[in-house]
Amino acid sequence: LAGLKYFGAATDSPGQRERAGYEAQYAQYDAIFADPLEFGQTTPTNGQKWLFTEPSPGVFNFTEGDIVVSLAEKTGKLLRCHALVWHSQLAPWVEAKNETEWTKDEMREVIVRHITELMGHYKGKCYAWDVVNEALNDEDGGYRQSIFYKVLGEEFLRLSFKTAAEVDPSAKLYYNDYAIEWPKAVKTAGAQKIVKMLRDAGLRVDGVGMQAHLHADRHPTAAELEETMRGYVQAGAQEVAFTELDMRITIPVNETSLEWQKDGYQQVARACVKVKECVGITLWDFYDPFSWIPYTFPGKGAGLLWFEDFSKHSGYQGIIDTF
Ligand code: XIL
Repeated sequence: LAGLKYFGAATDSPGQRERAGYEAQYAQYDAIFADPLEFGQTTPTNGQKWLFTEPSPGVFNFTEGDIVVSLAEKTGKLLRCHALVWHSQLAPWVEAKNETEWTKDEMREVIVRHITELMGHYKGKCYAWDVVNEALNDEDGGYRQSIFYKVLGEEFLRLSFKTAAEVDPSAKLYYNDYAIEWPKAVKTAGAQKIVKMLRDAGLRVDGVGMQAHLHADRHPTAAELEETMRGYVQAGAQEVAFTELDMRITIPVNETSLEWQKDGYQQVARACVKVKECVGITLWDFYDPFSWIPYTFPGKGAGLLWFEDFSKHSGYQGIIDTF
């Protein structure tokens, strides 16, 4: 693995998988997932999100998350856990009141309870937790106007990291976001600021997770990715990781776009090998029919490494050649 701690793939509990009607493919999918030569790490794509874990105030349900966590245990995979505080896939009750209706104290209690229960349930099992996900906006890399931010301001990040450090001292605490892979991106500067802000407040923040939902036809180079990672290390992160890697293509794919994709995957792998603080790479699932890309970005797809018929993209060998 050329110095990486892990190369992994996120996976979903069967009931949450993106494309229904693929039950006949599950056995083959499960065998590839389980193979330790393919993946040494996993992340639940959905099951630990607020929507599933605290559907009503103070009512916790770990069914979906537990499916993937026990699968990780059974197959001997390192586990990254995802995500504690995020504006998306949030339980509707959290947003049923607006910022004038929440008091700061109520919101503080809600955040602390959510982190305490969820992280407590998985205590000792997670190599890392995405403590706060996607706190930055796309326009200027400032803070996103989530309900958490609107009620508490920047304090919601400090409270989340402080609570997380207390609940599971053994888990690495990450700030995770997308569009923070390019060195000059506005959100890259924003993520650096978050790390500095937390550290200035005396809090523990161990890592920055670059989601890396990239595009085959305009991906960063290894040199650019290295510059970005060094920026996070300089800001005070002990480690960095590619946490949700995929490389979308305009469909239908052709030879050329698959070559671009292979190159994109190689740039990421090369950069991670080069930077000693880069602990690993996680694909956001590995089998194209279970990718979120086609549903979220119409016209795009084939972003992972296994096609629908289980043949492999050229990027698969491309990554292996890099290690
Ligand atoms: C995606 C899942 O893959 C989908 O199944 C779900 O419908 C939406 O969320 N950033 C994140 C991930 O942090 O949790 C998202 O996962 C993709 C973008």
